[in-house]
Amino acid sequence: MTSAPHSSFKSAKSIEEIYSHLPDAPSQKTLERVDYEARHWSSDIPGPLKPGTEEHKRATAQMFRETFNPYKPSVIPWPELDPVTLHRITSLPIWDIAVQTEGKARLRMAAYAAMIDDPDMKDALSRNAWEENRHKEVLSKLVAAYNIQMAPEPEYKEPKDTEWAYLVTGFSECVDSFFAFGLFALAERSGLFPLELIETFEPVMQEECRHILLFANWLAWHRAVMPFWKRPWFELRVIAVWAFLAYERMGLARSMDDNGNEQTQDNNFTVSGAKDVTDIDIKVPELMQLCLDEDARRFSGYDPRLRRPTTTPAIARTIIKGAKFWDKMQSRFRKHKAAA
Ligand SMILES: [Fe+2]
Ligand SMILES: [Fe+2]
Repeated sequence: MTSAPHSSFKSAKSIEEIYSHLPDAPSQKTLERVDYEARHWSSDIPGPLKPGTEEHKRATAQMFRETFNPYKPSVIPWPELDPVTLHRITSLPIWDIAVQTEGKARLRMAAYAAMIDDPDMKDALSRNAWEENRHKEVLSKLVAAYNIQMAPEPEYKEPKDTEWAYLVTGFSECVDSFFAFGLFALAERSGLFPLELIETFEPVMQEECRHILLFANWLAWHRAVMPFWKRPWFELRVIAVWAFLAYERMGLARSMDDNGNEQTQDNNFTVSGAKDVTDIDIKVPELMQLCLDEDARRFSGYDPRLRRPTTTPAIARTIIKGAKFWDKMQSRFRKHKAAA
């Protein structure tokens, strides 16, 4: 992807300032350096980084600022595609939902950032909102380059319940990014997509990893500094967010089943999209393992003292264990039947 660093980005005061300094034609060396810096980061603050402490909070915001990748959507060179690949890409059932998700995420994160008093967290979340808008720009450029037919975008409305909207967006990103990491690796291995296109989206994928790293550490900080009497209500809301996400995804999975193989715009693509990105037959536990491996790989370069998202990887591990148990039961049943 066309991207470039400069040390001034690391200390830039405002988001507008960063944006007005994105480079047009970075050198290869610069590209490699910024890519490395976006994936490897450790705080120079010594000792443990305990959520609720000034050190943990400062390190979280510092991580987000210093791993920024200053690529510019308007200079991305979109590769020319042969008709089969073009069709494969334009018919993926994700483009409307992807553009709208980024638009919603930008607004929700910016709205929540505006509510926060703490300057470090405010800065980190505002930058995250800005990066979501850049994702939207990248997607808009791709849609235009390949002439993908899009539904009209809805009006993006400020959320009424800002904290709820931020929690939904944050936890959704944790789920979607986890599965997207695996699907992205699968797409790369399949050879069905041109390498230049994979490379173009690679920094976006890594950026989502940074986003969920920020969310996990914001969440740990938020819990730690919250007055104790507010905590039960907050935890109830977290449970309600997970219930909402499960309902949303199960509902969509059901509608996919009813439609057979018909491709529709699919909010659940990150969970059900393997068939669209590869012609290799991959079983669910194998896909879960790939997602776990990719998740671990993408997080491996960041300070291990920062918190990682844990719920979606735990769900994937449970699915793998459940599948192994099911296989064992089936083979026992078969043996028992053969012996009878
Ligand atoms: Fe995004
Ligand atoms: Fe994101």
